[in-house]
Amino acid sequence: MADSDANTIVSLNNIGKHFGKVKALDNVSIDIKEGEIFALLGPSGCGKSTLLRIISGFENPTEGELLLDGKDMTRTAPNKRPVNMVFQSYAVFPHMSVADNVGYGLKMDKLLVDEITTRVDTALAQVHLDQFKHRMPDQLSGGQKQRVALARALVKQPRVLLLDEPLSALDAKLRDAMRLELVKLQETVGVTFIIVTHDQSEALAMADRVAVLEAGKLRQVDTPTALYNHPVDAFVADFIGKVHTFDVQHIERQDNHVRVTSDELGELTLPLNKLPERISTGAQVNASSVLAFRPEALKVNLANEPTASTASTETNQANEIQLPGFLGDIAFQGQHSIVEITRGDKPSVSAIVDHSSLSALQTQPIGTPIVARCALSDLMLLPAQ
Ligand SMILES: Nc1ncnc2c1ncn2[C@@H]1O[C@H](COP(=O)(O)OP(=O)(O)O)[C@@H](O)[C@H]1O
Ligand SMILES: [Mg+2]
Repeated sequence: MADSDANTIVSLNNIGKHFGKVKALDNVSIDIKEGEIFALLGPSGCGKSTLLRIISGFENPTEGELLLDGKDMTRTAPNKRPVNMVFQSYAVFPHMSVADNVGYGLKMDKLLVDEITTRVDTALAQVHLDQFKHRMPDQLSGGQKQRVALARALVKQPRVLLLDEPLSALDAKLRDAMRLELVKLQETVGVTFIIVTHDQSEALAMADRVAVLEAGKLRQVDTPTALYNHPVDAFVADFIGKVHTFDVQHIERQDNHVRVTSDELGELTLPLNKLPERISTGAQVNASSVLAFRPEALKVNLANEPTASTASTETNQANEIQLPGFLGDIAFQGQHSIVEITRGDKPSVSAIVDHSSLSALQTQPIGTPIVARCALSDLMLLPAQ
């Protein structure tokens, strides 16, 4: 359809939810597109499950509306919505075979036996459990039970599959394997997935787009790379990976650049596009902003290396900031190592260093003077909140 909204399958419009005095969700608006894996990400208690339950119909919003396929379903009963929830593995009925578990919902809907059999077989093949249809749940591994739960939801042919922390019951190794499998499954069946998780690496690895929630408020909706490289604020930057932040005392917008003053990093001139809309500038101290960089943006040199500056204070040069410090621990990570840079009273920073750059550092004792440098282009200027 040429309709510009044809692509949107779930619209959450200004959703609010109160539990007594607790405001679990506050004015949340998100459009989810057909066929995408969409993750709801945030710390425990931020309202992810409540939002998922509002989409499923197990919870009603206090404010706002929910559209599914463009139709208002804010008050529609759960079983009348084209969505299905995957419960965790322990929700598998222990006294029924795999096939009976998967077919249970269809039996309740009074479908013909032949159709139930066909659809159960299809769903079991989709989750690679065709060989296990006659097994009982206690003869299955944790990962296989999880697949039964998936098949039981898929067999109902929903437009949208809702998964609340689907991998949290699995051990770490199985969890990684199931991440990939869920992504492949979604590609095969084409159903829109909405996945709740508090694990940022899970959201980044699996989702096409991620909504970051904090204390009931939507912070940002974006692709994993955009969230990582262009977080809207320090909360998102910190939640989506490691980041080092430095308080900013003053920001001033000039003709085609921004002057930023930070006690620690000095006075910097940044391009105008580093200035997020939400930061107000002016002569007043703006203590609510931070400068930030990620550990992989840091380059580390020995302080006496000819290529590195021997500056003893943190100064800004034309294109980079420099942080003098001392070599701390080096943590081997396989592809790269994490180098700690201690800085006396100031918080240490860490740099991700690949092995070609590591050799000069590795032979040095802890406490050797070093200089960490970050290109201005890798600096982020972010609202603190
Ligand atoms: N049925 C309920 N009654 C009262 N408070 C609730 C209920 N469900 C959730 N909450 C509260 O709403 C907030 C969001 O909860 P939830 O959506 O479960 O968070 P998340 O899934 O992100 O961990 C929390 O403060 C939680 O205690
Ligand atoms: Mg939850």
